[in-house]
Amino acid sequence: MVNSENFARRTVHKYLQIIRSKRKKMGWKKTLSLFFLMCAMGTILFVYFCGSNFCSFHQDITTIIPQTVIPEPESMTAYKNGRLPFNEFEDNELDRNPSVNLDEDVIVFLHIQKTGGTTFGRHLVKNMDLESPCKCYRKKKRCDCYSKKKTIWLFSRYSTGWICGLHADWTELTTCVEQAMNKKEKSVRSRIYHYITILRDPVKRYLSEWKHVQRGATWKTARLFCNGRSASRDEIAPCYNGTDWSDVTLDEFLDCKDNLARNRQTRMLANLTLINCYNTTGFDVQKRDKIMLESAKENLLNMEYFGLTEFQSYTQKLFEHTFKLKFVAEFSQLPVTHSDRTQITEVQKAKILEQNKLDIDLYQFAKDLFLQRVRKMKMSEGDDTILGDYADSKDIFDDSVDIEDNEDDNDEDYI
Ligand SMILES: *[C@@H]1O[C@H](CO)[C@@H](O)[C@H](O)[C@H]1NC(C)=O
Ligand SMILES: *[C@@H]1O[C@H](CO)[C@@H](O)[C@H](O)[C@H]1NC(C)=O
Ligand SMILES: *[C@@H]1O[C@H](CO)[C@@H](O)[C@H](O)[C@H]1NC(C)=O
Repeated sequence: MVNSENFARRTVHKYLQIIRSKRKKMGWKKTLSLFFLMCAMGTILFVYFCGSNFCSFHQDITTIIPQTVIPEPESMTAYKNGRLPFNEFEDNELDRNPSVNLDEDVIVFLHIQKTGGTTFGRHLVKNMDLESPCKCYRKKKRCDCYSKKKTIWLFSRYSTGWICGLHADWTELTTCVEQAMNKKEKSVRSRIYHYITILRDPVKRYLSEWKHVQRGATWKTARLFCNGRSASRDEIAPCYNGTDWSDVTLDEFLDCKDNLARNRQTRMLANLTLINCYNTTGFDVQKRDKIMLESAKENLLNMEYFGLTEFQSYTQKLFEHTFKLKFVAEFSQLPVTHSDRTQITEVQKAKILEQNKLDIDLYQFAKDLFLQRVRKMKMSEGDDTILGDYADSKDIFDDSVDIEDNEDDNDEDYI
């Protein structure tokens, strides 16, 4: 916006200068006709650029930080047509430039279900180029990730296991990691924790979770711990009776009011003590949603690094750039498996969007932040090509489950 305004101002200024300088030499008639000629040319240029969406695109760029916009019906339309309002970030938010010393610090991987986190978690234990890499064993599920100083540098399912609970969320981790690490290392020391996570397109993630639950996953041992206790059955009513929810249909999945799949990414990244945890009594839903979404965005922004499932290569490169660490083998983009495409009705689509609107807003925020970080990384490496998939990328509603969901490692084996 600023650039095109400056451009217009400079152009007008130049035209006026030409007219002024020529007026002395030319007669009034000539000046007037020159003026009209300029106007005509200006109009043609304007129509030319705006006709190709140049102007409307730039008008769409509005900064929504620190104020958060809860998706309204209009913005859901905006989402379905392309994207939500654009988020622009400050330089210091794009390159946090942390100094990481794996002999002392700990990388804490907040693993949200069905985001491709299993693949990423494997990269962390098996694919890092370190002086003291993790030691993995044939018959053991977990690896030992010790530094040269015998400290543990990685907190994740494949290293420490779920010692803060199955798929522990931000609220659980921030109140547990310190004691858990003291216990594991059998010593109390001060550590710097670097929280990281992976996010994924919310619609795909939701559908992927449904398919996983359909295959028998429950995550019912998740503690949902907050403010000193787990969520009660009154607060989060189970979606099914019996041992699991195998063969659940999408409609049944959508109709369960307390389904934890809804807005899972936002909930798992927010500080839940801000909204009285899982107790919704006496709290306006809109207000609760707004606080939770704002908190999730703030926590994500404070993470020096996070990746996106949809961008495997950038997810790798940005990790390497941020922490000044290297992977041995390159990440590969997981192939689209068309056989997994799900036929869903318009009504189901509308429900999925409605139930995941916080995640949709969070994901747009995350994507803007991630791609601006990638762009800054590229520029710092002397690569100033503007990313083709940046800014005018579309988040078109996509009902496919397009990652190879072969992450069916039983989560509960790592407790
Ligand atoms: C589980 O069973 C109880 C008792 O029969 C019933 O009230 C409840 O609605 C059932 N819940 C679900 C999700 O089917
Ligand atoms: C979460 O929010 C509570 C309530 O405001 C606050 O006391 C606590 O410090 C927050 N947790 C973290 C880790 O910032
Ligand atoms: C939930 O919150 C309400 C209002 O703050 C409170 O009265 C109630 O006791 C809480 N319920 C539980 C189970 O803590």
